[in-house]
Order: sequence, then C-alpha cells, then structure tokens
Amino acid sequence: MSDGVSRRSFLKTAGASAAAASLAQVAQAAIAPPEAGVPATPTLGPDATDVTLSVNGKPMKLRVDPATTLLSALRMECDLTGAKEVCDRASCGACSVIIDGRLVASCMMLALDAEGTKITTVEGLAKGDELDPLQLAFVKHDALQCGYCTPGLVVACRALLDKNPKPSLSQIKSGLSGNICRCGTYTNIFNAVLEASGQKPIADSAPV
Ligand code: FES
Ligand code: FES
Repeated sequence: MSDGVSRRSFLKTAGASAAAASLAQVAQAAIAPPEAGVPATPTLGPDATDVTLSVNGKPMKLRVDPATTLLSALRMECDLTGAKEVCDRASCGACSVIIDGRLVASCMMLALDAEGTKITTVEGLAKGDELDPLQLAFVKHDALQCGYCTPGLVVACRALLDKNPKPSLSQIKSGLSGNICRCGTYTNIFNAVLEASGQKPIADSAPV
C-alpha cells in the first residue's frame, strides 16, 4: 500500500477500530433508554417480587426474593417438603421435580424462572388417597432405606415412565443416572420401575 502503510498494519488498525466501534455500540445500547413502544426489561430485586407458580395443578401466589431457588420456594413458601435439599448443586437429584414434562433439579432454578410452567412435585403424583402405581411399586419392592433420596427418585422414575412407558433395564439406569441413593437400594428401585411398567423384576441378587 502507499504512504508507507503496509497491508498488515492497515488490517490491524482497521480491526482495532471496528472492535472499538462495536464495544462503543454495546455500551451505548446498555445505557440507551428503550425505544418508544418497546417494553423495557423489568428489573428484579433487590426487593421481594410477586410470582405465581402452577404447582401440581394449583396456582400458588408467592412473594419471594429474586434469588430464591424453586426448591426453596416449594419447601418454605408452598409447604411442599417432598423435594429435599441435599447437595444444592445439581449432583444428587434429591430435589427433582417435573417441569413441563422435563426432569429438573429444583435447587438449580430460580422460582421466578418457573413462572408460566407446569410444576409437578412428588406430592402431585397421587390422586387423592390413591397412590401412583409407581409409588405402590416402590412400597412393594421395598425400594428405600433411609428414604432421603426417595422422593427425587420417585419423581425421576415418573418422568422416565411418562416418556418411555416400557424402559429396558439399561434405559432405567440411564434415566436415573442423575439420582444418587447413598443407601444403595438401586436393585429394588429398578424392580419398582419394571413392576410399574408391567415388566418382570430382576432377581435381587442380579448385579447392577
Ligand atoms: S439438592 Fe438439587 S441436585 Fe442435589
Ligand atoms: S434410601 Fe437412603 S439415600 Fe436412598
């Protein structure tokens, strides 16, 4: 190029100017007032915020701190204590709930983000006094010891069966891979799922 400007230095300078221009645009967008007619994104917090959650088919009106997890809202505000807080970091599955058909660790979701979804907790599986067939199968196969992981596992099994009504043993293991039972009742849990899906349970002594 002429005037002592090489192609390399021209491109470097042009690239730096373009990057600076885009950063300036981003900064401008961040401080610019919303355009007329475009609703501004609401700012949440630090004060408590109203939220309505649909839990087990019922609307629940809550007022929560924006940092409240769904798990905490369910347990402390809705008085639904089936979901347990164990690891509080999405590694044990004790807090499992079903949201719009998906298995979700409620310790990892903000209550405010659950607005507009359909939440099912373990308390929502029975129909009145009639237990879900899966819950009956858990009882029949003695699929618990301390029981702390059990609500989350029952919910995870329900989510699995809702998607796959006749899962193979390996599909059951895979479907429950996010739920830890420290007591090691896995064989009985697998049997409960097999029973609830009309399949033959495996022998108690079968390797898992
Ligand atoms: S408490 Fe949520 S995954 Fe363990
Ligand atoms: S029954 Fe105790 S952790 Fe599963």
